[in-house]
Amino acid sequence: MADKVVLAYSGGLDTSVAIKWLADKYNMGVIALTADIGGVGELSAIQKKAKKVGAIKALTIDAKKLFVDSFVFPALKVNAVYEKQYPLATALGRPLITKLLVDTAIKEGAVAVAHGSTGKGNDQVRFDVSVAALAPNLKILAPAREWGMTREETIAYAEKHGIQIPVKVASPYSIDENLWGRSIECGVLEDPWVEPPEEVFAWTKSMAESPNKPEYVEISFEAGSPVGLNGKKLEGVVLIKKLNELAGKHGVGRVDHVESRLVGIKSREIYESPAATVLLEAHQAMEAMTLSHQQLRFNEKVSNEYSDIIYNGLWFTQLRQDLAAYVDRAQQYVTGTVRVKLYKGNCIVVGRKSPVSLYDYGLATYDKGDVFDQSASLGFIHIFGLPTRVQSRVQGGAGNKKTKKKA
Ligand code: ARG
Repeated sequence: MADKVVLAYSGGLDTSVAIKWLADKYNMGVIALTADIGGVGELSAIQKKAKKVGAIKALTIDAKKLFVDSFVFPALKVNAVYEKQYPLATALGRPLITKLLVDTAIKEGAVAVAHGSTGKGNDQVRFDVSVAALAPNLKILAPAREWGMTREETIAYAEKHGIQIPVKVASPYSIDENLWGRSIECGVLEDPWVEPPEEVFAWTKSMAESPNKPEYVEISFEAGSPVGLNGKKLEGVVLIKKLNELAGKHGVGRVDHVESRLVGIKSREIYESPAATVLLEAHQAMEAMTLSHQQLRFNEKVSNEYSDIIYNGLWFTQLRQDLAAYVDRAQQYVTGTVRVKLYKGNCIVVGRKSPVSLYDYGLATYDKGDVFDQSASLGFIHIFGLPTRVQSRVQGGAGNKKTKKKA
């Protein structure tokens, strides 16, 4: 019997061609696996297509809940954003898909897993390194990295073998979608000077087309994870879907990023991430109410490290898990509600409250009821300013240079 390989299958052109190509070139039985994390189309149609192209088996898994609970929310808790811009939707999806590939390979007795990534991007790294962490002995095949076909040649290959070409292929853009966001590249976007044409956006309205009235949303958090909208408890997947719609309608979540790929290339990518943008803003506002200054500062460092780890495909490393344990503890009091205003592409935090808030009205107020002892500030400043005073006396303050004493 031929060896088996489990291929991550999206139903698109490249992975459809990959089924046929793997079967022909390696004489392998291809098991197509489609994971629904909120981006693929109708699963039964995808399954049918995989079989038609030549897969010996076509499996589908609804992994939306797993994606949100085990990847998206852990990333949100640490405010994971790459280079201050990209909420990491695609980067978070890859390790999950790899985990499902590996589990399926073991169950089906396959000798290899395969994915449709090219040799130029980050996704190949994420797939391959995740396999290295989860099943280091499994072989990895990446047809699009091997076959050396241009897009036209891939289309010609599909035509020759009777593989139905999706309508989307007519579009010049390369698009990846899941619940946490939509990534768009290629075509005119490859010129970083060109403004993204309106046609690249599918989840967000332009400023001109968005409503002329603002809309308010309240997001409730428990221990760093969102648990409800407008006072109603919601399960993560539903909450994200609702927020994508709501914020997308107001044009919130468009990102135009020239990013630094791990393989050394600068690339221009457009993102749409309405829910991610709102939740990241709201989460940080919740943290500001419930964490100390030292915690906030330290978390920022962890956030930068963690974001790079996600981007660079190191999700399953020990270090990422070490940091996750820290983050979980650090988020234990990030509980409460944040109110945001969505308006013409903006998401503005306008209110926050928490049962464990560190904001103390009595200490903060300038009105009646002030309990802060202003006279105590004098002694505090005396000690706090001591090193500055000494240094100024000996070496001079700003604009008051002392001549160096001869030793
Ligand atoms: N640049 C993003 C990343 O590396 C997205 C990659 C996939 N983008 C796409 N348009 N197919 O995570």
